[in-house]
Amino acid sequence: MSPTDTPRPRVLSGIQPDFSLHLGNYLGALRNWARDQDRFENYFCIVDLHALTQHPDPERLRALTLELAAMYMACGLDPKRCEIFVQSHVPAHSQLCWILETLTPMGWLDRMTQFKARSQAQGRERINTGVFTYPVLQAADILLYRGDLVPVGEDQVPHVEIAREIARRFNAQYGPVFPEPEPKLTHFPRLPGLDGLDRKMSKSAGNTILLSDPPATILARMKTAVTDPQKVRRNDPGRPEICLVERYHRKFNAAEVAEIDAGCRSGALGCVECKTRIAAAVADHLAPFREKRERLAARPAEVGAILASGEDRARARARSTMEQVRAVMHMG
Ligand code: TRP
Repeated sequence: MSPTDTPRPRVLSGIQPDFSLHLGNYLGALRNWARDQDRFENYFCIVDLHALTQHPDPERLRALTLELAAMYMACGLDPKRCEIFVQSHVPAHSQLCWILETLTPMGWLDRMTQFKARSQAQGRERINTGVFTYPVLQAADILLYRGDLVPVGEDQVPHVEIAREIARRFNAQYGPVFPEPEPKLTHFPRLPGLDGLDRKMSKSAGNTILLSDPPATILARMKTAVTDPQKVRRNDPGRPEICLVERYHRKFNAAEVAEIDAGCRSGALGCVECKTRIAAAVADHLAPFREKRERLAARPAEVGAILASGEDRARARARSTMEQVRAVMHMG
């Protein structure tokens, strides 16, 4: 058997098409998915059904779905090596979700942080049930493709654990159909949000740089970044170790970071110049994505065709899992 015949572990992951992607999504997720795509059999889903829990405008959801597909590819996911598809186009996600819901105790879902936060904000009376059952649909996404590994960030680990518990329960109750999926964590020094060193980049906080931002926007966003409060005037000495802009230099402008640190400390380098330089470095770094994304955006039919062929192969895999599910449940 040649090495290419050995079955590779299967990965499945997904992103909600609810906002445009930002630098943190790229460093934490997409860059690693793309880098590892030869080691695995890859399923990358655009989870539009999950996004419905936030009641998006349908046209905007559609636009963000296509944009996310283009972004997956602009970040290097190769449709020849990955199945890239839209969750709602494969009806088996919802079918399997129902079966898995019957195996999921409400207590597990009650304890999920996202549900707790949103039900506190909106009240249990008004929050939609989709926010509650969200992790079960996520388990269905993973189990439908019999995923072994789920590349996600820390915040998603409880969701993958629920998927594993559900797989275990299903296998115990009906027969061994599902592997127990494991999270595949990406370890990378987190880039802080622009509003503070301790802030996480987040889509909703608006403290990010988007992968699609043109250079002028990157500069404008970077100018809002919080810096050392002791460096009030241009020539005041600053403390690079507590400055989040310095973290960006370390990541995207490593060659100049020693000089930047020294200039900040001595007062020779002002914050405006420091920000202008990092904005240019980030813009250079993002230029290839932006170009590739623009090329794809100009050819929506091509993106549509890629999603259609991803859907065909995803459906075939899903069909075979559902046949096994029905067989062990005597629903065939
Ligand atoms: N809940 C994930 C997030 O918010 C998105 C998601 C949905 C997902 N289904 C998935 C991630 C399956 C990994 C695998 O980021």
